[in-house]
Amino acid sequence: MKTDPAKNYEAINRQNWNARVETHAQSAFYDVPAFLKGRNSLNDIELNLLGDIKGKNILHLQCHFGQDSISLQRLGAQVTGVDLSDKAIAYARELAQQTKTDTTFICCNVYDLPDQLTEQFDMVFTSYGTIGWLPDITNWATLISRYLKPGGKFVFADFHPVVWMFDSKFEKVAYNYFKDEAIVESESGTYADKDKPLELLSVGWNHGMAEVLGVLLKQGLQIDSLEEFDYSPYNCFNDCVETEPGKFRIKQHGNKLPLVYAFSATKK
Ligand SMILES: C[S@@+](CC[C@H](N)C(=O)[O-])C[C@H]1O[C@@H](n2cnc3c(N)ncnc32)[C@H](O)[C@@H]1O
Repeated sequence: MKTDPAKNYEAINRQNWNARVETHAQSAFYDVPAFLKGRNSLNDIELNLLGDIKGKNILHLQCHFGQDSISLQRLGAQVTGVDLSDKAIAYARELAQQTKTDTTFICCNVYDLPDQLTEQFDMVFTSYGTIGWLPDITNWATLISRYLKPGGKFVFADFHPVVWMFDSKFEKVAYNYFKDEAIVESESGTYADKDKPLELLSVGWNHGMAEVLGVLLKQGLQIDSLEEFDYSPYNCFNDCVETEPGKFRIKQHGNKLPLVYAFSATKK
């Protein structure tokens, strides 16, 4: 009997992300040599929402190999990064050592975090390529609320759900905007090195904007600001062009599509 990929999503996606780490670590996209020399990997979109983070303790969900976590730490925060991929977390710990930063990294599925972490935080942060890997964002919102101190701030920046409606060439609408059954895909290459001969199986879900904001509102978070952007700060999609420095748009669609959205919310 064949196992349902949706039920086996954790193992499939862990394997997917483990397989990318070495390529990502060597890629121009992540530019580890510049990062080691002090480059901050965060973008203006999230920096504007984060504000002054000196002295704040921050929980960073789905931190990959920790560049953004360490960047937050370099800005004066005390950061705990969490990720499902053991290879990513092992490399994040190596980078923390190399950069002499005291960032903490935990390897687990976000849903299992309460087994390992009881502390509450001034801020929870997550960005770019996150909730699409999560089957249930009601539980995700519960976790965010649980880990925020009263008055604490949640900062979110991610690709717009409209992006995930399209096929990989942005030619046609291929998927439902609203949450539907799991999307199981096999792709070759990775966004940080599109020509790398990696064959990656993934299981993901689309979450519309009202779904995301709705689950947070139900947890008593107050949305303080919300913005949509017609560009991506990353050259991560097929057929992207850099139309302005640091702003990538899909060649055939120009500025017609929202590519990123970002918001901050406060736990009352
Ligand atoms: C696109 S990356 C995050 C990107 C990050 N902004 C970066 O570029 O460094 C997505 C990360 O989510 C992690 N991930 C996927 N599903 C997860 C889950 N259920 N729990 C924790 N981490 C998960 C993956 O291992 C991967 O490192």
